[in-house]
Amino acid sequence: MIITVALEERSYDVIVEPGALDRAGAMIVALTKGVVPIVTDAHVAPLHLAALVASLEKAGLSPKPIVLAPGEATKSFSELEALSNTLLAAGVDRGSLIVALGGGVVGDLTGFVAGIIKRGIGFVQIPTTLLAQVDSSVGGKTAINTAHGKNLIGLFHQPRFVLADTDLLRTLPRRELLAGYAEVVKYGALGDRKFFEWLEGHGAQALSGDSAAMVQAVAHSCRMKAAIVARDEREIADRALLNLGHTFGHALEAATGYSDRLLHGEAVAIGMALAFQLSVRLGLCERQDCERFIRHLKTIGLPSAIADVPGPRPSALSLLDHMRHDKKVAEGKLTFVLLRAIGEAFTTTDVPQQALEALLDV
Ligand SMILES: NC(=O)c1ccc[n+]([C@@H]2O[C@H](COP(=O)([O-])OP(=O)(O)OC[C@H]3O[C@@H](n4cnc5c(N)ncnc54)[C@H](O)[C@@H]3O)[C@@H](O)[C@H]2O)c1
Ligand SMILES: [Zn+2]
Repeated sequence: MIITVALEERSYDVIVEPGALDRAGAMIVALTKGVVPIVTDAHVAPLHLAALVASLEKAGLSPKPIVLAPGEATKSFSELEALSNTLLAAGVDRGSLIVALGGGVVGDLTGFVAGIIKRGIGFVQIPTTLLAQVDSSVGGKTAINTAHGKNLIGLFHQPRFVLADTDLLRTLPRRELLAGYAEVVKYGALGDRKFFEWLEGHGAQALSGDSAAMVQAVAHSCRMKAAIVARDEREIADRALLNLGHTFGHALEAATGYSDRLLHGEAVAIGMALAFQLSVRLGLCERQDCERFIRHLKTIGLPSAIADVPGPRPSALSLLDHMRHDKKVAEGKLTFVLLRAIGEAFTTTDVPQQALEALLDV
């Protein structure tokens, strides 16, 4: 399946296909010649790097793997500097293309470096996590983290294409797979009730290795993200809907110290449940839709309440405090994505503090 992200001269294709990794060389050789740096991490390298290297070599290219430490800490100034120097030492020029083979961490850092090195060169995303296939590899947001918060230094830099090989997900730990699925359900919740209903019927199948179902889930998610990004590349309006569950989610991640206690997707799952509950409290959404949404999270095995966070419960005060420091605060007002129903999300800055406190205190 091919999905086009329509952004005029920055348009590109997202190819969703089991086994697509074998085609990487043929696709990349059409765009560049010679040395091709591949940025990956030490978990992905032993699993999937050899296949990519073989595909590039078969196309007559000279792959140059760069293996980074796995984990969020890699999205840092020091890694940015190190990677930039490694790429410069490898002789990248304006005609080079850098390949990101990995999850969102590798994709975000590589995209950022590609956006600034020699004032911007091309890059290709080969996402290897479900989260990266349905979310971070599409849309051109790149960033690193700082002491002041996550993703605060970065730029918009669109890839030349995205190759989402769903077979690569077979080696992903179950917990990471489920966390990525939270972003898949998000698309149904924010804008496509039919897709949500399809997920109720086929989501579990996709997660347990049914290749056709996984391709459908990934491709439909990418199609929805591509449409939103095409309407609003720089998040001035519609793109903010993609933050459904993220205002609460980021607060939960911050309150748990961005630790193993809570993966991003798990935090987003709880955040979406809270967004539904807040919408019900404010009389915007039917209780049945909220319950139905939460039931699906539970069926799949995702957390859906603050009480599901392992360890000490993050306090309402700490969550509110983290929310006030979110980068989605504009002119002192927090933006929330709320729901009128499953499949009908909208943004608002108009949430009474009382309702928020009551929601988080329960
Ligand atoms: N740019 C965007 O629009 C955007 C959107 C959402 C998230 N993000 C960013 O994405 C990052 C999270 O991405 P992620 O969840 O992919 O995390 P990740 O890149 O840390 O990958 C998760 C774990 O899975 C491992 N892994 C990756 N692929 C594997 C595979 N096929 N088999 C086995 N193990 C594999 C990784 O080494 C890592 O340990 C965050 O930094 C977040 O800020 C960016
Ligand atoms: Zn997310």
